[in-house]
Amino acid sequence: MLKRSKFLWVLLVGALFFSLLVGCSDTQTDEGSGGDSDEGTSDEGSSDDAIDVGIILPTRDEPRWVQDEQRFRDAIADSDYTTEILFSQGSSANELQNVETLISRGIDVLIMSPHDGDAAGAAAKAASMEGIKVISYDRLITNTDAVDYYVTFDSFAVGEAQGQYLIDNTDGSGIPLYLYAGASSDNNAFLFFEGAWSVLQPKIADGTFVVANSSAAEELSSKNELTRDELGQILNQVTTNWDPNEAINKAQTHLTSAGAELKGDVAVLAPNDGTARSIADTFSSDSEVTSYVITGQDAEKASIQYIIDGKQSMTVFKDVRRLVEDAMGMAITILDGSDPETTGSYDNGSVDVPALQSEVITVDQANVEAELIESGYYEASEFTGLE
Ligand code: BGC
Repeated sequence: MLKRSKFLWVLLVGALFFSLLVGCSDTQTDEGSGGDSDEGTSDEGSSDDAIDVGIILPTRDEPRWVQDEQRFRDAIADSDYTTEILFSQGSSANELQNVETLISRGIDVLIMSPHDGDAAGAAAKAASMEGIKVISYDRLITNTDAVDYYVTFDSFAVGEAQGQYLIDNTDGSGIPLYLYAGASSDNNAFLFFEGAWSVLQPKIADGTFVVANSSAAEELSSKNELTRDELGQILNQVTTNWDPNEAINKAQTHLTSAGAELKGDVAVLAPNDGTARSIADTFSSDSEVTSYVITGQDAEKASIQYIIDGKQSMTVFKDVRRLVEDAMGMAITILDGSDPETTGSYDNGSVDVPALQSEVITVDQANVEAELIESGYYEASEFTGLE
């Protein structure tokens, strides 16, 4: 009897221990993949199978990256190679853990869009030391030699298109210009702003625009080419950190402190669609703002609806199908033992990273149907108000 209850006791403790272990490994995967290991897995085999390509995206909280996830899934549906997609959920620690998970799963190629370009160096290094080829995806991993390739859109051109749109769609002079930017931990935020500044600066210098919310931009208004440090000074004042809520707070603060001369018909440089919608909502609820022209990027569905409804002026369409195709094409070339083709290079602060770059398209009410519906990118039924 005693023996039997001892046996049962051992069984019970064993079962408890086992369930704890399972619990731990779930938690680990959850944290690592940003909260949902099943959805983060796209390979066909069981989670114990080795995988060929690991894909890490920065966050599932922004539609932009959910869009990339979906396009990756579409692209790999019929592939012979196995892949796994994990999200870092805005944390470099999760990102590193995700890379370690993928290394342990035997990947040969890592496609990674970093949460923070500099911090991602450690994760890239860990992969590279295992002989894994690292492809930086959309955002550049900076200040490390552990990046083999970069697949990207022309991010300078994104900013240029935004700035040019504001110039082409406003009239007169002395137009209040509100500047907003992305997160300084993202190299793209610098490129977008640099592109916008390249066209806006002459129009600030000649009085067409009056900067409404950045003393650093005012001080630098006679200089067309800014150093990284100078760009950083402006970004520090007008960053949204890619966070729509931070964008609302900043816009509210700016509008509260702006005098009547900085209201009326205004122009707003918003760095992407997520922040553009929040900033647009904030500006439209200020009774002293009579009209606003506002930029965006990513062609997020919600912003396409805003454009159709006249609440956001434009977006820069970055065809994610193309980016995914380029990244997966590169990965497969590497897996097949060849060197992928590149068209240029980006200095990441440590090395020149061979890069493959794709073009971007300005979209507003005039061409939204042609570019996004007729091209098959979205379905007309996903929107209201389209003729
Ligand atoms: C991407 C944009 C995106 C932003 C915020 C940038 O690096 O290029 O498409 O809107 O990050 O996630």
